[in-house]
Amino acid sequence: MTIFGTRPEAVKMAPLALELARRDGLQALCCVTAQHREMLDSVLEIFGLRPDYDLNIMQPRQTLSAITSRCLTGMDGVLEEAKPDLVLVHGDTSTTFAGALAAFYHKIPVGHVEAGLRTYDDYSPFPEEMNRKMVSAIAGLHFCPTPANRDNLARENVHEGVFLTGNTVIDALRTTVKDGFRFGETVLNGLDYGKRKVILVTCHRRENYGQPMANIMTALRRVADAFPETELVYPVHLSPVVQEAAHKYLDGHPRIHLIAPLAVDEMHNLMARCHFVMTDSGGLQEEAPALGKPVLVLRRETERPEAVEAGTVSLAGVEEEAIFQKAAGLLTDAGLYERMAKAVNPYGDGQACRRIADAVEWHFGLRAQPPQPFAAG
Ligand code: UD1
Ligand code: UDP
Repeated sequence: MTIFGTRPEAVKMAPLALELARRDGLQALCCVTAQHREMLDSVLEIFGLRPDYDLNIMQPRQTLSAITSRCLTGMDGVLEEAKPDLVLVHGDTSTTFAGALAAFYHKIPVGHVEAGLRTYDDYSPFPEEMNRKMVSAIAGLHFCPTPANRDNLARENVHEGVFLTGNTVIDALRTTVKDGFRFGETVLNGLDYGKRKVILVTCHRRENYGQPMANIMTALRRVADAFPETELVYPVHLSPVVQEAAHKYLDGHPRIHLIAPLAVDEMHNLMARCHFVMTDSGGLQEEAPALGKPVLVLRRETERPEAVEAGTVSLAGVEEEAIFQKAAGLLTDAGLYERMAKAVNPYGDGQACRRIADAVEWHFGLRAQPPQPFAAG
């Protein structure tokens, strides 16, 4: 049984749920908590995935405790009824933690997809870093995207049941990006990607709420003001906290386009056409390098150092001046831009779902050998 609840988990678990469903020896069940509602449903629709169970837990301005307790209580009934032999959770959200904990309470083994990411700062990202650590303690199977993720687990003495698979997000990306893609969002069809410098922006992390988010928004407006050749496209997360901050600081600018969250195929195709990306998202930090797009990370740290080391991602922090200077550098220094705009794939080769499904079959004795590990190129 795959369990997930938010947009990024859905993007990364939908291709895996579909791959598991194709395996004859397995019965694949899918349970969504709907920690996100609209943003989850949009992904399910794009991938044509129909969950078997839907806990429908989302509430406006939900607290971490409310998400966790509603997931745990809801999962009890589902696990009682379905009695899965293995639960797969993804990443680091409250759904991830509660799904793993619920499975543990029912003595059902847990596999963790996207295991081993760490910043080693419990409050950044918050609460995701602690969620990952707690899920690592519960899980018996750990599907690590990169060698560095595997090494993090080894340092925590987790050696058994560890598989190096690549990240399923690269599998997802391979199905969505297309030449000649026509956007449903009219603003996006109206932009001249050849002549204008389109900067794709997203921002939503809880640890950025308050002053950091105000700094980020102010820096974005300065970038638009200082560089008339830019168009900033910002699909704003549905969190009311984020909506308020984005509209307060960025409304009314002719070249800042605040739009609704994009369907994932629209998002990936916009990323493939933009000049560069400014984001605090985890997923975008993995997707943009694969498409050869520089990324400025609007955070103090990242649990995804691979693309920083490869040179396509740069940490811009959460101070206005530093963010503005980083963006100005990419807009004025052609050499810097070229060095950052090279396609790298440290996170996967599009085969992560196959490897994870193979590992699950091996775990159940349906396959003689475990999958060959992902070789990061
Ligand atoms: C959650 C995850 C975060 C992940 C992010 C991806 C936790 C604690 N946080 O944060 O790790 O990076 O998702 O986007 O698990 N809302 C809607 N409709 C939607 C989605 C959200 O209205 O489809 C609004 C609701 O008012 C909700 C609020 O957004 O209460 C916040 O959602 P929540 O899941 O609590 O936090 P995120 O910031 O989205
Ligand atoms: N995404 C999307 N539409 C948007 C913004 C993001 O489809 O308007 C996708 C993005 O391409 C990536 C995932 O959602 O696959 C990332 O989600 P998010 O940034 O919300 O969460 P994070 O990755 O930071 O946990």
